[in-house]
Amino acid sequence: MPEFATLTVDGKTIQLPIVRGTAGEAGLDITKLRDQTGYLAYDPAFGNTASCTSRITYIDGDKGILRYRGIPIEQFESHPNFVEVAYLLIFGRLPSVDELARFSARLTANAPLHEGMKHHFEGFPVNAPPMAIMSAMINAQSCFDPEFLHLGDDDEKFTEAAARLISKVRTIAAYSYRRARGMPFVYPDPRLRYCANLLHMIFSMPYDQYIIDPDIEDALNLIFILHADHEQNCSTSTVRMVGSAKANLFASCAAGVSALWGPLHGGANVEVLEMLDAIHKGGLSPEQVLAKAKDKSDPFKLFGFGHRVYKNYDPRAKMLQKVCERVFAHMNRQDPLLDIARKLEELALKDPYFVERKLYPNVDFYSGIIFRAIGIPTDMFTVMFAIGRLPGWIAQWKEQHDLVGGRIARPRQVYAGTALTDFVPMDKRPK
Ligand code: SDX
Repeated sequence: MPEFATLTVDGKTIQLPIVRGTAGEAGLDITKLRDQTGYLAYDPAFGNTASCTSRITYIDGDKGILRYRGIPIEQFESHPNFVEVAYLLIFGRLPSVDELARFSARLTANAPLHEGMKHHFEGFPVNAPPMAIMSAMINAQSCFDPEFLHLGDDDEKFTEAAARLISKVRTIAAYSYRRARGMPFVYPDPRLRYCANLLHMIFSMPYDQYIIDPDIEDALNLIFILHADHEQNCSTSTVRMVGSAKANLFASCAAGVSALWGPLHGGANVEVLEMLDAIHKGGLSPEQVLAKAKDKSDPFKLFGFGHRVYKNYDPRAKMLQKVCERVFAHMNRQDPLLDIARKLEELALKDPYFVERKLYPNVDFYSGIIFRAIGIPTDMFTVMFAIGRLPGWIAQWKEQHDLVGGRIARPRQVYAGTALTDFVPMDKRPK
């Protein structure tokens, strides 16, 4: 039974259809608002705007719920397999044993870069930001795969393009790490699984293969799973926006990398480590950091805290905190930054400023500490986030791509500039 809301403006009353989601969340369909009333909806930063309906990921920010294709993320914890979750997000269901084996084989086959791609790394300065390299090299990859620039409705081509992207971003990430340190590239080892191969390409040396620790491999699978999708966040909305123009999958994901780089988004995991390190080096006490974060005259934010959607504990942060404890116990490791993080969390969770605003740790608060424990340097943290998020971007791009009658995304604005004025010739302008 269709449901409607009633809107009356300037003496005119219209009916707005109500769109209801699977879990009961509701939206007002304003697709005819401007035609019927001449008014636009006004929602800067889209905090109250649903850009689409989607079947991929469900978040309940008040209850701290996150589900991939209906499966709660907590259920991936006991047997974390990032490639399996990538398949789930992209194809909408868990793969059979044979389907997973075939998809994994595609990833293995696609792991090496075209030798021509390697020369692009030489063109970057050794201190080039890895996220700049990642974004550039995803577009560069499409130059070697022209057949994937137009996927049309060819499912086989899409599957191969998705596998190629997921596999090669891992190699690109490892090569950017090695290039920055003047180390020789290590080729992917076809005998290794996805996460193990990444660790191998980052840390092995010729004649000295990195020994894969299964517990660290499991931890990395789970970390990537927890980053894999998060409905219409900034970078995913960017991918969908770019894809709505019928831009190809590679260009759309390269745009997603650029959005994710922002310190308010995926770049926060780098900011968290720098914040913790600054405290450790004696710059500021945890109490002083919280005071800075609360000071409205100071642009500083408590990085790794707060979220547009979660007004409860980010379920990923809870799981990453447990991964952190497990990895540290397994490695018998101590890290003063972890102690500082725990102190900051303890203080913030009982500070009225954070409690009133429902600011809790988010996915970025603990992830960097775990990467650091594994040996991943700070400048690679957001690249690791991008590797994890790529399957979600691909799934969301495909959902947008397959929309029947899908239109190019083109928000409107309320103009607040000069109403009307004339051009002033140079000889009439002030000196
Ligand atoms: C990610 O959208 C996603 O799903 C993103 C993500 C994903 O998986 O894709 O979850 C990944 O990006 C996680 C967030 C990582 N970013 C950070 O940790 C940066 C620090 N956090 C903040 O910048 C902020 O919380 C955001 C950006 C995450 C959310 O910003 P919003 O929704 O615009 O929140 P807001 O600015 O409207 O905050 C409401 C109030 C404000 O104070 P008042 O004006 O009410 O007095 O809370 C304050 C804010 O100043 N506030 C903070 C704060 N976060 C919000 N104050 C201090 N420190 C913070 N971290």
